[in-house]
This record gives sequence, structure tokens and C-alpha cells, in this order.
Amino acid sequence: MTLPDFADLGGQQKQRVVDAVFDKVSRRYDVGNELISFGLHRVWRSHLIESVGFRPEHDVLDIACGTGDVTFAAAPRVRSVIGTDNNPHMLRLAEQKRPAGMRNVSFVEADAASLPFPEAKFDRVTICYATRGLPALDRVMAECFRVLKPGGELWILDFARPPWPAVDVAWRGTLYTWGAVVGTILHGDPRTYMYIPASLAHYQGQRVLDVTLRAVGFAPTEVFETTLALMAYNRAVKPG
Ligand SMILES: C[S@@+](CC[C@H](N)C(=O)[O-])C[C@H]1O[C@@H](n2cnc3c(N)ncnc32)[C@H](O)[C@@H]1O
Repeated sequence: MTLPDFADLGGQQKQRVVDAVFDKVSRRYDVGNELISFGLHRVWRSHLIESVGFRPEHDVLDIACGTGDVTFAAAPRVRSVIGTDNNPHMLRLAEQKRPAGMRNVSFVEADAASLPFPEAKFDRVTICYATRGLPALDRVMAECFRVLKPGGELWILDFARPPWPAVDVAWRGTLYTWGAVVGTILHGDPRTYMYIPASLAHYQGQRVLDVTLRAVGFAPTEVFETTLALMAYNRAVKPG
């Protein structure tokens, strides 16, 4: 699998590259997360879960849910969670990981840019580690706005663009080098995880995401950066 520069790709081509990556890594996705992040993804995810303000009466949508880590972590705190992803391999693995007796979780195959849910259905929407790779980001954000109830909140966690140029370059360089090591170990191909720095390089970043979110109707958003601004959380509220 060769990974062309994301900047040269149109939306559909970019989606094909992303889909090919997840077709390939799905089987070892969870162990890949452990190795790429030295286990820290658990800390960053659990901070997200603690921050979102889930309540027992909430209905939640976890977009691009992958193998369901956020979906399953939210479930005990809320009434219902739907995990959606456009990749059937990822959803199958999520279904296999469902904890016994967890009945308030369902999975739906869907493109984040065209969600098969009615307006104002959800109290909270989460997107974890997917935003920077989504080709039609403005359409995805508009869909998040549409399916949220007034007063509902969108929470995004993703790799960040540190505001200091030297750290920004070093961060992507580290992801490139360490991703090559992990790709070789897990898949015999150093290019496997190149999509992480490649997608990050063309991601507008957590601080600029606010512009896209406000353009689709969200109130001015909050950004929380952590771990030297290598990770970031965006919180956007639908007015109402
Ligand atoms: C890095 S994984 C993140 C999975 C999960 N949220 C997590 O935190 O582990 C990115 C996910 O985005 C999904 N994805 C990519 N493009 C998508 C799209 N257009 N619509 C829905 N999901 C998409 C991929 O299939 C993959 O499961």
C-alpha cells in the first residue's frame, strides 16, 4: 500500500486511502493503538469520557467508532449509545468486543458525512481519533449539528497541531518514525501508519476547527490541549 500525499487527493480518493488503511490494520488495530501511544491512548480517552458530562438519560452517538472503545466506555453512563463507522471490518471487531450483557449499545455502518439518523436525536456526539482523516469535514460537522438536540454537545479528541512550529514538526517526525517501527512489527510494512502524520499535516488543527464548527451553527467552541499540545479536545455546543 502506497500512501500519496493527502494534499494531492480529492475527497473520494482520500476516503479510499483511509478505507484501505483500516481494512489493513483492523485486525491489529487495538494493539497498534497500544504501541503507537505507549498505552497513553487510555489516559486520553478516559479524560474524554470523564469530561463529556454523560448523564443516565442521554442518547449518544459515537462517530467513526472503530472497534468501539469510546462507545463501550460511554455505555454504562447513559441510556443508549450508537457507534457508527463506514468500515465493516472495524464494526465487526467492535461487535466481537461487546461486553457481556451490554444491551444499550448498537452499531450502524454509515458514512459520517451522511448519517442515517433524524434531526435532534442525540444529547452527545463523540468523534475520537478520526476527524483529521475525514475528507468532507465540513459536511461531517454539519451532520453532527443536525443530529444533536439543542443544547447538545459535540466532543472531538484527536492528535493535535502544537502551536509551536518546532514542536509541530518534531511531533509529526516522531509519528512518522515510530509509526514506521510499529508498522513493520505488526504488519511487515513501515508505511502502514504513515496516514497518521500524513493526515495530520493537512489537518487544519484543533485551534482552527472552531471556524468550521461555527460555520455550521455551533456556538464558539472550547479547545483543551494536553501532553504538550500533542493531543486536543474540542467541545462544541448546539445553541438552544
Ligand atoms: C483511527 S480510527 C478511530 C476509531 C475509534 N474512534 C477510536 O478512537 O479508536 C478512525 C476510524 O474512522 C473511520 N472512518 C474513516 N472515514 C470514515 C467516514 N467517512 N465515515 C465514518 N467513519 C470513517 C475508520 O473506519 C476508522 O474506524
